[in-house]
Amino acid sequence: MILRLLLFLFALTNCGVHTCPSQCSCSVAEVECADIATMTSFPVDGLPPNTTVLAIWSTQISSIEASHLNALPFLNRLQLYANKLEKLPSDLLRNASRLNSLDLTGNQIVRLPPGIFSQKSLRNLVLKNNRIEQADAEWFDDNNNLIWLDLSGNRLSEIPVNLLQKLKHLEHLDVSDNNLEDLHPDALKNLYHLDILNLAGNKLSTLTPTAFSHNPKLSRLFLQENHLRELPPSLLSGLQHLQMLLLNQNQLQHLPTGLLDGRHSSFQLILTANPWVCDGKMEYLWRWLNEHSQNVFYLEEVTCAGPEALKNRQVASLTESELGLVR
Ligand SMILES: *[C@@H]1O[C@H](CO)[C@@H](O)[C@H](O)[C@H]1NC(C)=O
Ligand SMILES: *[C@@H]1O[C@H](CO)[C@@H](O)[C@H](O)[C@H]1NC(C)=O
Repeated sequence: MILRLLLFLFALTNCGVHTCPSQCSCSVAEVECADIATMTSFPVDGLPPNTTVLAIWSTQISSIEASHLNALPFLNRLQLYANKLEKLPSDLLRNASRLNSLDLTGNQIVRLPPGIFSQKSLRNLVLKNNRIEQADAEWFDDNNNLIWLDLSGNRLSEIPVNLLQKLKHLEHLDVSDNNLEDLHPDALKNLYHLDILNLAGNKLSTLTPTAFSHNPKLSRLFLQENHLRELPPSLLSGLQHLQMLLLNQNQLQHLPTGLLDGRHSSFQLILTANPWVCDGKMEYLWRWLNEHSQNVFYLEEVTCAGPEALKNRQVASLTESELGLVR
């Protein structure tokens, strides 16, 4: 009888009672430790062993070890944003065999060690708004399953070709707001499943004609806020599923004849804040804008930067004679 009572009490303290690290909040399988200025180390004590989602944000935590995660065999999603992490150990995810998503947004990471993301279960990785200067193919295994990679808001001056060639399952790639000056012609060659590509907010000035020719599933392409001066006429050929193209805030003066041919009726385009030159070479874009005005956002803000006589006029509103098309 006493033995039974003891067993009952033992069971009660071990699984019946839900534990939770102090200052955090816990629901069935989710733990959140948020906005805790006094939290300086990983909250090891009290983490429920069945935790599948762990979110620790806006704390002073500056390091995390593999052993911290060993107590969480069911962990599926780990969100560590806006903390003070500077580096991570290469074996961090070694035993996190069910981890699907890792979000490290807004830390102070400069460099990451080889092998860090070799966990095969990892499908979504967010490294946004850190201080990463170099992305490294060695972070991943050859047979990784990554589908979502966000490296936006870092200090990358290039994306290594061998990194992207390894990420064969990638569907979403965000490298916006870095310092990219060009895109290697083979950079996107193995990304057959790429659906969303964000290259906005870099320093790209040219793109090769075949830059996207191996990405037939591309549906959204973000190229705004770069230094693009011209585009190759065949840049978008083969992109049957393209639904959205952002080209605003570049240095484009014309669009080449044929660039926008064959687009879907639901295609959406933004062209504002480019120095459009409204001369004879504007004919293709002028006709396209008039025939597809429903596909263009902010049509009235697509205006001429030159020649002087047409400055600030809306491109779509020009007449054939103003464009010098009547002989
Ligand atoms: C923890 O998960 C295991 C296996 O999924 C389950 O059998 C057990 O009841 C869970 N315990 C709690 C306290 O939720
Ligand atoms: C992973 O788990 C095994 C078995 O529990 C343990 O021996 C090993 O030290 C763990 N690895 C890391 C990196 O913590």
